[in-house]
Amino acid sequence: MIRLHRREALKLGLAAGLLPDVATARPAPDASPLLHGLGPRDDAPWHLPQSDPSRLLLDDGWRFHEGDIDVPSPVGHHLTYLSVKAGNARGPAAIDWDDGDWPMVRLPHDWASAQPFVQTANVSQGYRPRGIGWYRRTFRLDPVDRDKRLELHFGGIATQATIWINGSVVARNFSAYNAIIIDITPFARFGEEDNVVAIRVDANAMEGWWYEGAGLYRHAWLARRPAVSIATDGVHCDPRQEDGTWRVPVTLTVESIARDPRSMRVTAVLRDPAGQEVARQQAMLDIPSLKQASVALTIPVAAPHLWSVADPALYSVDISLDGPDGSDRRIIPIGFRTIAFDADRGVLLNGTPVKLKGVCLHLDHAGVGVAVPDALLAWRLARLKDMGCNAIRCSHNAQADEFYVLCDQMGFLVMDENRIFNPAPENLAQLEWLVRAHRNHPSIILWSVFNEEPMQGTRAGVEMVRRMRAAVRELDDSRPVTAAMNGSFYDPDNVSQVVDVMGFNYYPNDYDRFHVLNPRQPITSSEDTSAFMTRGAYASDARAHVSASMDEEAADWGATHRKAWKAIAERPFVAGGFVWTGFDYHGEPTPYEWPTIASFFGILDLCGFAKTAYDIRRAQWMDDRAVVGVAPHWTWPGREGQPIDLLVTSNAPRVRVRVNGRIVADQPCDRIMGVAVRTSYEPGLLEVEALRDGQVVARAAHHSAGPAVALRLTPTRAHLRGDGEDVLAITIDAIDARGHHVPVAQNLAHFTVTGATLIGVGNGDPNCHESEKAPERSLFNGLAQMIVQAGTGRGQIRVEAQADGLRPSRLILPQLAVPMRASVAALPPRTLVGDWRRSPVFADRPDPALRPADGDNNLWAFVRAGTPTPADIAPQWRIYRAALPQRKAIIARGGKISFAALAGQVELWVDGRQLVSRSKTTSGPLVADLPSGARDLVLLVRSDAGQLSGLLGRVQVEARD
Ligand code: GAL
Repeated sequence: MIRLHRREALKLGLAAGLLPDVATARPAPDASPLLHGLGPRDDAPWHLPQSDPSRLLLDDGWRFHEGDIDVPSPVGHHLTYLSVKAGNARGPAAIDWDDGDWPMVRLPHDWASAQPFVQTANVSQGYRPRGIGWYRRTFRLDPVDRDKRLELHFGGIATQATIWINGSVVARNFSAYNAIIIDITPFARFGEEDNVVAIRVDANAMEGWWYEGAGLYRHAWLARRPAVSIATDGVHCDPRQEDGTWRVPVTLTVESIARDPRSMRVTAVLRDPAGQEVARQQAMLDIPSLKQASVALTIPVAAPHLWSVADPALYSVDISLDGPDGSDRRIIPIGFRTIAFDADRGVLLNGTPVKLKGVCLHLDHAGVGVAVPDALLAWRLARLKDMGCNAIRCSHNAQADEFYVLCDQMGFLVMDENRIFNPAPENLAQLEWLVRAHRNHPSIILWSVFNEEPMQGTRAGVEMVRRMRAAVRELDDSRPVTAAMNGSFYDPDNVSQVVDVMGFNYYPNDYDRFHVLNPRQPITSSEDTSAFMTRGAYASDARAHVSASMDEEAADWGATHRKAWKAIAERPFVAGGFVWTGFDYHGEPTPYEWPTIASFFGILDLCGFAKTAYDIRRAQWMDDRAVVGVAPHWTWPGREGQPIDLLVTSNAPRVRVRVNGRIVADQPCDRIMGVAVRTSYEPGLLEVEALRDGQVVARAAHHSAGPAVALRLTPTRAHLRGDGEDVLAITIDAIDARGHHVPVAQNLAHFTVTGATLIGVGNGDPNCHESEKAPERSLFNGLAQMIVQAGTGRGQIRVEAQADGLRPSRLILPQLAVPMRASVAALPPRTLVGDWRRSPVFADRPDPALRPADGDNNLWAFVRAGTPTPADIAPQWRIYRAALPQRKAIIARGGKISFAALAGQVELWVDGRQLVSRSKTTSGPLVADLPSGARDLVLLVRSDAGQLSGLLGRVQVEARD
């Protein structure tokens, strides 16, 4: 994401709140609290710095095929022999596979999010078929990149992936949640030849009991580094304080593909939040060829500006590695803070107790599934911050890299979590990756090795945790290790005995007992609540699968928001809690299954629209400003004069409720439990005021709405950045004749977006089966959402929403010209005929029908186009044979074959017919028309004495236009 500075925004007349280009009304000043936080916000403070300048984004230009492709086994000895050779992968993994008719997609991509809901599909995955998919991407490398270290990075692929580069398998990955780092240097091709990445993704594999999506759902990158480079995740710099003195220990791991040993200079520069140099250290490092080496530096710092939840000050360590092969660099954001878990006082941040006001998060959002663009992720996190949330548990797996960067910037405390509980080498490697990749983030305060494992009360479980904890501590000795346990707390052998912090999933009644029995062990709730709410619904209806948003229903193992927090807030020895969950998520529909396809647990729904839980949690958690909320809304036609039960929530000590100006309640308010008020319904205005010392410190109001007359569009930002990646959410609601939000509207709205791409829609209804990709959506209890993605460059985005019987709404937003992130060019792929067989020599012109005997892997040589045949003493004939790559377009229309440089006297034959000949011995290009359906290519070449001959350059085929 590119940061737009406030100054720039002002220049463009776009300072938050001005919105000159929004044609239709945004929520009026008296807008319903149901829309609070959905209006345009200034997101300038959040940005993703380029911490690894050697990386190029590899997000666009991917070809995608949904479903598997059957590759018949080779028949015959010769084909079998060839099929197992490096570079000779077959089927869609082959370099030459024709993917020209596969649709293009941009990452992040989740193909499951476009699937319909199917009752026979897996319930936990949200009734969406997932299946198998293929991706292919071609790219070219400049010859100046030869001798560089080249890596492919995939942020995450759901779920199991096999990856080939140029026909050789280079990775098999078994988890959706770890990054995949692949050194492709030995496989790379430079200059005119394409490099082909092919990926088979098996999303039938499951690692979770929630919606996991399918495909390349995080960013991909190409890293181009000097031959001696800083290893990926090879910088560890996590500030420490000892005896009141701060220092930044920097450990750098360097690796070399150079041919000889090298001596390198390492420089680490510490910069303060304003970018000013604070200190620097240098060292020399010797590194042998094809080996790794490490160097440790220490940067002492006097009185740094501390990182905290309220003031997340970030320094950076700018590390460079310089030597004869060039420079490599990383810029690592760091924060100076101390974290300690105390058995009596909970967690201490910089020496002061901080209650963890946390949420558990899965990954997905309405409309886009798990392929959440960075800007949407930032918006989701900002929504949490707005309600006073200060902690996030990555349940039950690593999040995207960008998540941790944003948590550092926004001031969240993060419990990072490993997915698979298993210390066998493959899974231990995933845990080690998690720690190595994330350990520099000041936001991370706790490593969790598992969530709810039935072996938690066994000797084997204890032994597994011991090994996993040791692996974590080996890489990071500064943060404690926990495990999220849901029982076995007192078993003779149980995991709580071998973790640093005890994590309780639910079981609030055990907090005291455990503390008494284990007075020296710090405790946190790792998961709590699991309450049910349907956003915007205020009466439960089990037959319709609706749970009232009044905080009265919870899972048997859980508790309402109020009860769950009370148990935590009242116990200083419980470090804090993590609500299950911050946002609703697809899958794990609880308490209702089909036709319900998503969860009801969120404080916010699938779109990030607030439920009543949001007001409850704001009252409980928000310390820096007064808040007040009231549920339900105030639009109850037909219920005039009947009693309505209100839940008023505030962090102020007293609240006052007015109906049409008349005070109907004035009473103390419990910050945790809120206050229940019964009043009778009278259309008009319901107002709540929060009072401190007799002064009104916060207000909220609901207007009774009349019938809906128009739609309204409210963007979450006043512009899009034209970087091809940026997204914003647009809220669609209906308003009545006076402009008031209609909280009961359920109209189907149709959308038209020009100048940008509509990448998904949603409405937060866990029972809705409408497509999340179609340009239409029903309002659900008054609200729906569009996610719109920017194109590139300066432009204008027009959005229109229409619904039968309502006035349409139009929105015009500017798209700003901003720099795009450096990316790997997506050029049209070339079809080259690279692999040839070359016969032994003939003194006389041979028969072009001659071919290698079946099984001959020796007499006829394997040659690549571009590799000349060495000079002969006397002229000689040779046959060169190749199979033409099969391209549907060429089969259909015929094409052209071009030899960039052929040396010798030449005849070109295709499928037994001579196409063209050159009788003079010469060296130069040759072009011929190809008939449609051409397959078998034969060149007869007669060399000239003392001259190179044969295929001196590339051979390319193109379809006829
Ligand atoms: C917990 C589990 C979560 C989720 C939740 C639903 O036991 O850790 O992943 O399933 O229950 O209440």
